[in-house]
Amino acid sequence: MFPMPFEVPNRILLGPGPSMTYPAAMQALATPTIGHLDPSLLALYAEEQTLLRHVFQTENEWTFALSGTGTSGMEAALANLLEPGDPILVAVKGYFGARLAEMSTRLGVQVDRIEKALGEIFSVEEIEAALQRKPFKLLALVHAETSTGAEQLHIAEIAAAAHRHGALLLLDTVTSLGGIPVRIDAWEVDAAYSASQKNLSAPSGLAPITFGPRAREVVEKRKTPVSSFYLDLHQYADYWNGAHAYHHTASASLHFALHAALNILVEEGLESGFTRFRANAERLWVGLEELGAPAFIPPAYRLPPLTTARVPEGVDPHAVRARLLQEHNIEIAAGFGALKDTVWRIGLMGYSSRPENVDLLLSALKSLFR
Ligand SMILES: Cc1ncc(COP(=O)(O)O)c(C=O)c1O
Repeated sequence: MFPMPFEVPNRILLGPGPSMTYPAAMQALATPTIGHLDPSLLALYAEEQTLLRHVFQTENEWTFALSGTGTSGMEAALANLLEPGDPILVAVKGYFGARLAEMSTRLGVQVDRIEKALGEIFSVEEIEAALQRKPFKLLALVHAETSTGAEQLHIAEIAAAAHRHGALLLLDTVTSLGGIPVRIDAWEVDAAYSASQKNLSAPSGLAPITFGPRAREVVEKRKTPVSSFYLDLHQYADYWNGAHAYHHTASASLHFALHAALNILVEEGLESGFTRFRANAERLWVGLEELGAPAFIPPAYRLPPLTTARVPEGVDPHAVRARLLQEHNIEIAAGFGALKDTVWRIGLMGYSSRPENVDLLLSALKSLFR
């Protein structure tokens, strides 16, 4: 029975995440481990902060990569910004917006939600009308809703509306960061978080996060300690930039990999990456249309990193997905909730976003539709 060797298949990851890890990031994982307080790791954090600020397009001093997946970024943002009883408005247009609302409820805050049908986005007027209901401390919404493939547009206008009504804006950029423009300072977004395994194409396990001056002031003026010791951003600031005191045993390996992946992104240049990712997505959209599986989201707010494709009449979506994995080693995902049986979710994120992957998927789908 022992040992128990395990063979991992070599997959082409075209689902909603993780994306395929850059080879350089895989190699970085094999770097010998160093301690979490090693001066060399602290120097790497400083570089990682510079890279993350560039990718988030911000000058925010409080920019870190938290130990944990994107959900830890979500939890950290809410737990640091909110105190029990605080009013929050959550704009829900899919599964991850609903998760923001659920997490807020668990934090013991007053949660108001506005909702859109799956596949739709909010207008600025709809958000502004909701902000008028009462003085909210925070407005939270998802930029790129991975459950539907819709991009919430007009973020700068939404931030301005939030500020006019005395609220801060928290933006989930898990599926947008590094894949489409995310302009934290220009849009005046107060706080945002992401994940290492989507458009950044590092392994999962780290959550980039950034807090601007208004958000930081809210944290600094808290009357109660942050409920989560692990995700307390004061402690992060101290560990990364301050006294470098022990907080937790961060994984040097994951930071080596994220640092390598971020370097790939900045070396290409953000804008040229966005253009390339869009071109690959357009290649996919044209091919899907030809196969009778057109994109579900209108082009005006369709996300290049995540496409929901309508399942053609008479095709069993789950059988096709299973055969793609078993026979072609290609991973895509089912739709979420009410869209479970009517769409597939296809990701073209970071290193997965390549013309050859698009062509492989299209030809595999074609053979399976016959
Ligand atoms: C928009 C969005 N927010 C949050 C998350 C949670 O991230 P993770 O699964 O890395 O915890 C995801 C994951 O897919 C996501 O797509």
